[in-house]
Amino acid sequence: MVTLQENPLRVGLRQERTPEPLIMVIFGASGDLNYRKLIPAIYQLKRERQLPAELTIVGVARRDWTHEYFRQKMREGVEEFSDGIGNEELWSDFAEGLFYCSGNMDQPESYQKLKAFLEELDGKRGTMGNRVFYLAVSPKFFVPGIKQLGAAGMLENPVKHRLVIEKPFGKDLGSAKVLNEVVQKVCKEEQVYRIDHYLGKETVQNLLVFRFANAIFEPLWNRQYVDHVQITVAESVGVEDRAGYYETSGALRDMVQNHLMQLFCLTAMEAPNALDADSIRTEKVKVLQATHLADLNNLDRSAIRGQYSAGWMKGKQVAGYRQEPGVDPNSTTPTYVAMKLVIDNWRWQGVPFYLRTGKRLPKKVTEIAIQFRQVPLLIFQSAAQQASPNVLTMRIQPDEGISLRFEAKMPGAQLRTRTVDMDFSYGSSFGMATADAYTRLLLDCMLGDQTLFTRADEVEEAWRVVTPALSAWEAPTDPALVPQYEAGTWEPTEAEFLLNRDGRRWRRL
Ligand code: BG6
Repeated sequence: MVTLQENPLRVGLRQERTPEPLIMVIFGASGDLNYRKLIPAIYQLKRERQLPAELTIVGVARRDWTHEYFRQKMREGVEEFSDGIGNEELWSDFAEGLFYCSGNMDQPESYQKLKAFLEELDGKRGTMGNRVFYLAVSPKFFVPGIKQLGAAGMLENPVKHRLVIEKPFGKDLGSAKVLNEVVQKVCKEEQVYRIDHYLGKETVQNLLVFRFANAIFEPLWNRQYVDHVQITVAESVGVEDRAGYYETSGALRDMVQNHLMQLFCLTAMEAPNALDADSIRTEKVKVLQATHLADLNNLDRSAIRGQYSAGWMKGKQVAGYRQEPGVDPNSTTPTYVAMKLVIDNWRWQGVPFYLRTGKRLPKKVTEIAIQFRQVPLLIFQSAAQQASPNVLTMRIQPDEGISLRFEAKMPGAQLRTRTVDMDFSYGSSFGMATADAYTRLLLDCMLGDQTLFTRADEVEEAWRVVTPALSAWEAPTDPALVPQYEAGTWEPTEAEFLLNRDGRRWRRL
């Protein structure tokens, strides 16, 4: 067996290390993302002793908060959205590194004030000019914020300054390109960390290990053995209180262009030369470049949208999407998308990848199912039995694990077969809960490991793949023409046809 030489440039997917002292500046510090996810995740890292003692966090937002008030609010967030404060001493130590600086993202003066404050903190906390700027703000502030950071000289050091950008990265291919250009004017790609929290999920990272650290699956991972692939990201929640955002986004932008495309890439990509960020991201880009909707001349045969109507979830009646607070009663925004993608390369020619995602589906489940071809000659077939093809399922969440479905002989004198599962479960094999995605991603950006962040060309390619559907669905449509599915059911009938037409069926999960 050959192993890669220990070349620091080729070692990605982080080994145990501690970040250099640094200041993380969080724009949008008074918002939900910071309160529910970022600070609880950073505090979790503190509890795990993964942070340098000097780590300093500066929250920036418009409100006129004091450092003390900010600390108190963040404490509440940690108490509500993580395992809690735990040790009071640890919290005090953490809180001493929390600061607040009010500012307006449009105003140059705010950046000057911030810059001076950061320099002052460098002196007090020994953070050596190292900065991570995290844009946890509405996307409309990305362009002005990045331009202002550049103008204030706050991104000029490619080694010491990093920029983290939350999703959505653009609202279509054109705007993603503009945003990339703005970014590239003020900093280098090595400084940019585009977040897709799915990449921080343990089970998503395990996809690479599963595929490339095991010898037995890769030889089967191609058109010769695989009939098709189904990727499902189902949610039981509705739009909740996010109508303002969701009405302009919908499932295609909110889930498909980013999370589903990432799952797709990791499933379909070729083996990278090494585990460093660029080797992996290059392979992802290559597979995206070869990918397109199955029938570009007939969208209905490759992309279906849907919207949930009123229904029942866990015994409770729930509203339809158009009746949700803040949603236009004639909205055509999709809450469900199903797609058939094809990949024009040697490995996957002729193997469709079916992707689906939706809100208010019967349950929350994310999985990737590789459905293998039927055996060439079914010698056990009789009128009473039909052997099912093998299916390899990677359960991303919940109940994380992997299972392989195959046929086995039922005990007894007769030769009858039954489908059984060979199952691996994270919980029982490792006996520990998987870490929150943000914990992993925040640590990686502090360490300067870009492997789990999307590169400029990757984001653009992912937008390109979904553009035909996006453009068609953006055109004014009669609301009556948007397929409906009852909340608590799996999909609109049109999405069933997408597979039935090919002689296949969606998995019932
Ligand atoms: C977010 C979307 O990116 O991902 C949400 O904006 C969605 O609409 C969420 O609910 C799903 O993430 P997870 O980790 O719960 O599967």
